[in-house]
Amino acid sequence: MSRTRGPGSSGRSRRYTVGARVYDVLSLEWPIYRAGRRAGLDLLRLRPGDRVLDVGCGTGLNFPLLSAAVGPSGSIVGVASSESMLARARTLIRRNRWANVTVAAR
Ligand SMILES: C[S@@+](CC[C@H](N)C(=O)[O-])C[C@H]1O[C@@H](n2cnc3c(N)ncnc32)[C@H](O)[C@@H]1O
Repeated sequence: MSRTRGPGSSGRSRRYTVGARVYDVLSLEWPIYRAGRRAGLDLLRLRPGDRVLDVGCGTGLNFPLLSAAVGPSGSIVGVASSESMLARARTLIRRNRWANVTVAAR
């Protein structure tokens, strides 16, 4: 007999649940990580119309750059194990009215 765990039930997920509310601030996005995020995205050489899977998307900090790179004809799917992080990602998607960005728990 085997047992599988659903999204959000692991210890790791609980940690992200607690941190989701402050993640964007504590992640030091602008002073530190934004440049690396941009450099990593440049390596992907995305083009308008491309489809992107963002594994471990968290609160969606990659989405603004990805969305700009693939344009309205492209699409982005974010997956993460933490529902709390995904809730913030959904808010970001709604606020920006990105019709081509979706997220799912995994
Ligand atoms: C550090 S956070 C967000 C990272 C995000 N890519 C960023 O740049 O801000 C890591 C995310 O990965 C997700 N995650 C960690 N391990 C995972 C796994 N095994 N399967 C799916 N998602 C996972 C967590 O739920 C969380 O949303």
